[in-house]
Amino acid sequence: MSAQRIIIDTDPGQDDAVAILLAFASPELDVLGLTTVAGNVPLAQTTRNAKVVCELANRTDTRIFAGCDRPLSQTLVTAEHVHGATGLDGADLPEPMMPTQATHAVDFILETLRAEPEHTVTLCTLGPLTNIGAALRADPDTMRRAKAIVSMGGAYFEVGNITPAAEFNIYVDPEAADAVATSGIDWTILPLDVTHKALTSPDWIVRLNGLNTPVGTAVAGWTGFFERFDVAKYGSSGAPLHDPTVIAYLIAPDLFEGRRINVEIETASPLTRGMTVADWWRVTDRPANALFIGSINAKGYFDLITNRLATL
Ligand code: BDR
Ligand code: CA
Repeated sequence: MSAQRIIIDTDPGQDDAVAILLAFASPELDVLGLTTVAGNVPLAQTTRNAKVVCELANRTDTRIFAGCDRPLSQTLVTAEHVHGATGLDGADLPEPMMPTQATHAVDFILETLRAEPEHTVTLCTLGPLTNIGAALRADPDTMRRAKAIVSMGGAYFEVGNITPAAEFNIYVDPEAADAVATSGIDWTILPLDVTHKALTSPDWIVRLNGLNTPVGTAVAGWTGFFERFDVAKYGSSGAPLHDPTVIAYLIAPDLFEGRRINVEIETASPLTRGMTVADWWRVTDRPANALFIGSINAKGYFDLITNRLATL
């Protein structure tokens, strides 16, 4: 079977970085390009961080396209309090040399979907949905040529991590998330309900260091850094490893279970802006527009990541 073609839209972030590495290590996937967006840190920094990850993995052939530097209609909110000043604190890696492509990320996404056969390219989103929302506003028909959008974002049972009601990626750009929710494109959501069941552990850091590779050492360092925030916040022994769930879902969907339900995005209320209103119990007759994942085989997930990273 030929590899699934994907574009990874990302705001690295340590967990984004692990997701990108997992994709590079997976022959089932063909990464057509990385598109960057402002999120965890501003755009210049997320673009730099994407290059750091490509160079760490010796994948300097990867094309990196810088995208939107702010949400569609609100001020940017960032998360240095979680990810550190660089967004990728925790590993000592060289300043990257790779170029940024001249094409804007939104144009690259649209040009790729026009050029590739219909319903063959999957958009994997690991950050705020601004680039996807902008592309939907520019050319919704072309966007509907995508095979699917698979996103880390939102929450139902876990509610919020940046406000009491909202998860970070959706909160940063609710209008963009709403554009995706109403687009009619096949949408799979990996929410906090899943990622909060996929916690890092001291044992995992030992396994990563035991790989004795630059990738293993970097991922161990990143994990040690970003864990401290969630360990203090939740009183857990590790932190949710959010974004690699998107890539793991593509290569090992049997590790996950979810429901096809209606998911709508709150864009109006100041109190709950960015909330994913997920009809998990199907109490409305609103039509299903998303596959909302609710559970994960966490051991299988961490084994998959470790075994794949060992190949880099
Ligand atoms: C999401 O927010 C970011 O901080 C992480 O990279 C992840 O994409 C989790 O809420
Ligand atoms: Ca992210």
